Amino acid sequence: MLSAINAAIFLWLCAGIALKRRRTLHGAMMSMGFAFDLSLLLYVELSARAIEQTVGKPPGAILVVHVALATIMLLLYPVVLYSGGKVYAGGEARRHKRVALPFMVTRLLVVITAWMVAH
Ligand code: HEM
Repeated sequence: MLSAINAAIFLWLCAGIALKRRRTLHGAMMSMGFAFDLSLLLYVELSARAIEQTVGKPPGAILVVHVALATIMLLLYPVVLYSGGKVYAGGEARRHKRVALPFMVTRLLVVITAWMVAH
């Protein structure tokens, strides 16, 4: 269930990229994607299930990789959002474009590893 929500947020971000030419809508959708991701992360961190699955057992390799990717994703979010805001305000798009691809690749790997952790 949680990995399905995770995948749905990824699809939402893809839809936001498909709508990049509609700049205001694109900015709003990507910012909402960030809010969805933060909410999911907080839920997962605080939910009894996540604690149950991890505490007391040595974490599996996939879980370690998943957490590492999710951490990288969280570090890239502010960079991609901030650079997007700059483009929106009339700045040049090079930095935003450059960071968007690694961000989306990391985001996809988070989806895949979340699914692997759950199955
Ligand atoms: C997770 C966050 C985001 C991602 C992954 C993302 C990704 C992208 C991508 C892939 C492009 C297309 C670049 C190209 O033309 O090759 C783009 C363009 C753009 N983004 Fe974002 N973006 C994000 C957030 C934002 C935000 C928050 C804003 C503004 C508040 C924004 C404003 C723009 C603008 C103005 C463009 C140029 C659109 C055009 O071609 O006219 N982005 N973004």
